[in-house]
Amino acid sequence: MAMGSDMVPVELCKGINGLDKIVLRESGGSSAEVYLYGGQVTSWKNDHGEELLFVSSKAIFKPPKAIRGGIPICFPQFASHGGLESHGFARNRIWSIDSDPPSFPTVSSSKVFIDLILKPTEEDMKIWPHSFEFRLRVALGPGGDLMLTSRIRNTSADGKPFSFTFAYHTYFSVSDISEVRVEGLETLDYLDNLQNKERFTEQGDAITFESEIDKIYLSTPTKIAILDHEKKRTFVLRKDGLPDAVVWNPWDKKAKAMADFGDDEYKHMLCVEAAAVEKPITLKPGEEWRGRLELSAVPSSYCSGQLDPQKVLLSS
Ligand code: BG6
Repeated sequence: MAMGSDMVPVELCKGINGLDKIVLRESGGSSAEVYLYGGQVTSWKNDHGEELLFVSSKAIFKPPKAIRGGIPICFPQFASHGGLESHGFARNRIWSIDSDPPSFPTVSSSKVFIDLILKPTEEDMKIWPHSFEFRLRVALGPGGDLMLTSRIRNTSADGKPFSFTFAYHTYFSVSDISEVRVEGLETLDYLDNLQNKERFTEQGDAITFESEIDKIYLSTPTKIAILDHEKKRTFVLRKDGLPDAVVWNPWDKKAKAMADFGDDEYKHMLCVEAAAVEKPITLKPGEEWRGRLELSAVPSSYCSGQLDPQKVLLSS
């Protein structure tokens, strides 16, 4: 599998607390790490070795607590939108490597990827009585883009459909939350988790942050940009099959209340989560759903020092 003289593009090794993790390395220098615990991406570095995702210094890498940071997978329930534990159980199950995944209909340009699979155990069936196969591909593109594709299939033999909600709960690393703005969600409707999930309409300006936020933006564009002025870096999210986008920062009070989150760490993270929440996905037996997220990190100076958000949002 080695591409260079000593570079292993896909390596299975031990992570924190002896948990299995996969390291992906792309020939340009970017890398990513994925834990089998949660099927969770915990690191994504650019070709300068700079970490692009936030993981709390207090994260507990030990079942049953989900890892605080990276990209937890929320399935089959987003947050408390149902009777299951918060964000469902996929983020605290041990996934397996899928050595023979069904082929993708479209040819992917990436050769650096890992396929994982999660199937319910008998215990899982007691809390969510549905047979499913959840296949997750995590890939690094040639330019260092991080691509996640989820394929969820109803494999039940009882003829019954099931419904679920979903999110890629991405924790982005930012220099200073007060210097960050999000483009692409202006004028959209959202459900405010801090106000009994009531529906409001966002104003026309880019979103900036000066207090706790926990909003589910509805029917969002496929492209969203996070502009980090201090770092002069822009994250671009492209998503498919995921109409909603959750924006979350716990701010100081909630940060203090979380055992696995540092008191001041809220300043250095922002969750922007590609999601399907408002309208649950329903699958009949044999049907498959696909949800895709592609993340790029580009220097803001690409736009001659002054970032034009329209360019970021409209360029392909
Ligand atoms: C966000 C939710 O996605 O996740 C918040 O919108 C929630 O309401 C947050 O607090 C963190 O959830 P958890 O279960 O990982 O602490």
